[in-house]
Amino acid sequence: MTQLSSRHLTGIRGLKREDLELIFKTATEFKEVINRPIKKVPSLRDITIANLFFENSTRTRLSFELAEKRLSADIINFSTNGSSVKKGETLVDTVNNILAMKVDLVVMRHPHPGAHQFLANKVDTVIVNAGDGTHEHPTQALLDAFSMRERLGDLEGKKVAIIGDIRHSRVALSNILSLKLLGAEVRVCGPKTLIPKHINDLGVSVSHDLDETLMWCDVANMLRIQLERQDQGIVPYFPSLREYARQFGLNMERLNKLDRSITIMHPGPINRGVEITSEVADSEHSIILEQVENGVAIRMAVLYLLSANR
Ligand code: CP
Repeated sequence: MTQLSSRHLTGIRGLKREDLELIFKTATEFKEVINRPIKKVPSLRDITIANLFFENSTRTRLSFELAEKRLSADIINFSTNGSSVKKGETLVDTVNNILAMKVDLVVMRHPHPGAHQFLANKVDTVIVNAGDGTHEHPTQALLDAFSMRERLGDLEGKKVAIIGDIRHSRVALSNILSLKLLGAEVRVCGPKTLIPKHINDLGVSVSHDLDETLMWCDVANMLRIQLERQDQGIVPYFPSLREYARQFGLNMERLNKLDRSITIMHPGPINRGVEITSEVADSEHSIILEQVENGVAIRMAVLYLLSANR
C-alpha cells in the first residue's frame, strides 16, 4: 500500500489498519529527516496549505506549521480573532475565499463536532482535522500510537488505559478507534459523570477505580480535565478539583505501589496537580515530550500522503 484509502483525514473512523501502518512507516522516515542537521526536504515545494484555527491550540498548531515548513510547503495561518468570522462570515464562505487564493490543502481546528465532514461535502479541497470539538483529534491519536509503539513495540494485546475526562475529550475517541485497529485492549477510567453511557459499544472496558486500572495497564494515558467545556465555568461533574485529584490524579505514591513500571502519557496541556503531578509528568515513566516530538513526524507523514490526493 502506497496511498491512503481516504481523500481527507476527518477522523480515525473510516481508516483501515493499513492506513495507520503506512502513516507510521512514512513518519519513521520523516523522524530520521528531522533529526538531521538539515531538517528540511522539498517534498511539498509546490503545495500551499492553510492552517485554520477556530479554537485555541499550542501543540497542534505549531506542530502542523513546523511539519509544513520541514516539507517546504507555502503556508498561510488563520485564527478567528481578527478575522471576518467576527463580522458573521460563514465557515463555507471563509474557506471558499481562502481556496480562491489557490490553496491546496486545509488543516482545521473547529469547536463544532463534525465541522470537517460538513466542509468536506461543501468545498473542493483536501481537509485535515486538527480537532473538532469533543469529537475527534486524529493526528493526536496517531502520534500517541506511534509513541506507544516506539516504547512497547507491537500494540497487539497491549493494555492501554485512558483516564480522566472521557466525556469532553476528542483525544479519547480517536485513541480508542486507533488502538482497537492496532489490536490493543482499551479501558477507560474516571468518575461515572465523565464517562459516556454507551462507551462500551466501542469495545472498551470501563472502570471507576484508578489504582486497579493502573495494576491492569501497560500504558496510562492521562487526560486533561476540560474545565472550559464544562457547564458555566463551575464544575458540576465532581465535587472539587481537590477531590478529583485525590481519586483520579496520578501521583508517585500510586506508581510506587505497582510491581512494574508503566508508560505514562498525556496529550497536553497538563493541569499539573489535578490529573497528574509534576513529579510523574517529569519522571522517566513519562513520554509526554516524546509525544510532542513525534507529532511533527506524524503530521509530516499525513500531509505528505494526503497531498497525493489533491
Ligand atoms: N494536544 C493538543 O491538541 O494540544 P493543543 O490544544 O495545544 O493543540
